[in-house]
Amino acid sequence: MNEPKNSSILFHEHAIKEVVAKIGLQITTDYKGRSLVVLGVLKGSFVFLADLIRHIDLDIETEFIQLASYDGAKSSGKVTLNAPLKTDLRNHHVIIVEDIIDTGTTLDYLLAMLKGKGPASVRVCAFLSKPSVHKNRYTIDYQGFEIANEFVVGYGLDYRGRYRNCRHVYQIKV
Ligand code: IMP
Ligand code: MG
Repeated sequence: MNEPKNSSILFHEHAIKEVVAKIGLQITTDYKGRSLVVLGVLKGSFVFLADLIRHIDLDIETEFIQLASYDGAKSSGKVTLNAPLKTDLRNHHVIIVEDIIDTGTTLDYLLAMLKGKGPASVRVCAFLSKPSVHKNRYTIDYQGFEIANEFVVGYGLDYRGRYRNCRHVYQIKV
C-alpha cells in the first residue's frame, strides 16, 4: 500500500469514516428546512468534503474556493487566493469545510471575506484542528479530531502535493 516514509498511522480509515458520518448526521439535523451552501476550501478539504456531503441528507449546494497558506510543512503566514468564489451567498447559510485549522490564518481570511458577501450565517467544519497553534480563539462548530502540533498527511492533506490519496491519516517527520 502507498504509505508515507517515516510515518505512523494517527487515524485509521475506520475511525475517520465513523466521525465523518457523525458530523454529516449532525449537520442534517441542524440545517433541516434551511438553504445551505457547503463551501470547501481547496485543495486539502476535497476528500473530507466528498465523504461528508454524502452524509448530509438535505438539498444543499456545494461550492469551492481555493486558498493557499502553507509552504511545505509550515505556515507562510499569508494567504493567496487562487480561485475566488463566484456564487451569491446572500440569504444562504454557509458551512466552511476545511481539512485542518492550524494557525487559523486561512480561516481569518475566509471569515473576513464572507462577511462582505452577506450570508444568513456562517459556521466552520474542520476535519482536524491543532488548538495549541491557533492564533485566535475559534469556534469550530463541527470537528473531526483535535491533534497536537504535529505534521500530518493523508485523507486530503498533503506534503508538497503528495499523500492526499492515502486512506488513513499519518503523522510524518519532515
Ligand atoms: P492555517 O492557515 O495556518 O490554519 O493553515 C491552514 C492550511 O495549512 C490547511 O488548510 C492545510 O492545507 C495546511 N496545513 C496545516 N497543517 C497541516 C498539516 O499538518 N498537514 C498538511 N497540511 C497542513
Ligand atoms: Mg488547505
